[in-house]
Amino acid sequence: MPKIELIQGDCLEKMKDIPDGSVDMIFTSPPYAERRKATYGGTNENKYVDWFLPIGSEIKRILKPTGSFFINIKPHTNKGERSLYVYDLICRLKRETGFMFVEEYCWTKNAFPGILKGRFKNAFEPIFHFTKNSPNEITFNPVACGTPMKEESIARTYRKQCGAPKNGSGMTGMNTTNIRNLKLARPSNVINVNNVSNQFSDKQLHPATFPEGLVEFFVKSFTQEGDTVVDPFMGSGTVGIVCKKTYRNFIGIELLPKYFQIAEKRFRGKGIKTGSIKELKDNECIKSI
Ligand SMILES: C[S@@+](CC[C@H](N)C(=O)[O-])C[C@H]1O[C@@H](n2cnc3c(N)ncnc32)[C@H](O)[C@@H]1O
Repeated sequence: MPKIELIQGDCLEKMKDIPDGSVDMIFTSPPYAERRKATYGGTNENKYVDWFLPIGSEIKRILKPTGSFFINIKPHTNKGERSLYVYDLICRLKRETGFMFVEEYCWTKNAFPGILKGRFKNAFEPIFHFTKNSPNEITFNPVACGTPMKEESIARTYRKQCGAPKNGSGMTGMNTTNIRNLKLARPSNVINVNNVSNQFSDKQLHPATFPEGLVEFFVKSFTQEGDTVVDPFMGSGTVGIVCKKTYRNFIGIELLPKYFQIAEKRFRGKGIKTGSIKELKDNECIKSI
């Protein structure tokens, strides 16, 4: 039975209670700079990186050497220009906090209808992957979300293979026997999950959309059952719900009582009637602080 710990408060303070090197994954979507002023606020884009970096240092401290930190954040447009603070954040997380910047994932989703001047509808969000150590050393289940291979792809594994390139890309020579036996193709770094699946945002209980399918891809690919996942900006608790369903332990931190209470209800299966929480009725493993 996974252990679920829900903590109400400021993540910078509350993460101090989590021991060094004890967490397998941090998966989070922090408030974007002042995009939700009316609901949960946010920091001005000019101050955003200075606000986030101490949180980034705490994340690095609690992460295991085999762990991964994923952050979903997309720069908004301001007076027709796309803001650059997210790129500053990524560079400074690498340079000042000392993370390795491993990958950028592209989450493609349905776009909001509408006509924009000089640009098309926004139908993707990035997810940035950081680690403490080389990605050769992290927990990684490459076919946990694999897709069945096509016959022609299996046939291709019988052709003569090239060896591993020496350019540091991490590409290895193919273990063709293994691939043939599994008959599963590795996913790419482009993940398509429509955002309508977050029933908690549809009901306007929490304004941020975050589909369970997106979280599931990363949790299954970068942790094992029994591992511990932290979301320092828990909101309505989507990351934790996925952890509970996939037998990972979860620690969620949320600043605002109104969202903390939504997450609590969601975990305990109380008050909100939806299909996805029916199976989460066993409450013994849930601790709220
Ligand atoms: C983008 S939302 C996350 C939504 C979440 N993924 C979900 O499943 O609902 C960001 C959340 O971070 C919370 N937050 C903002 N500042 C915080 C802080 N310093 N510590 C903890 N939570 C914070 C906000 O109240 C908001 O609920």
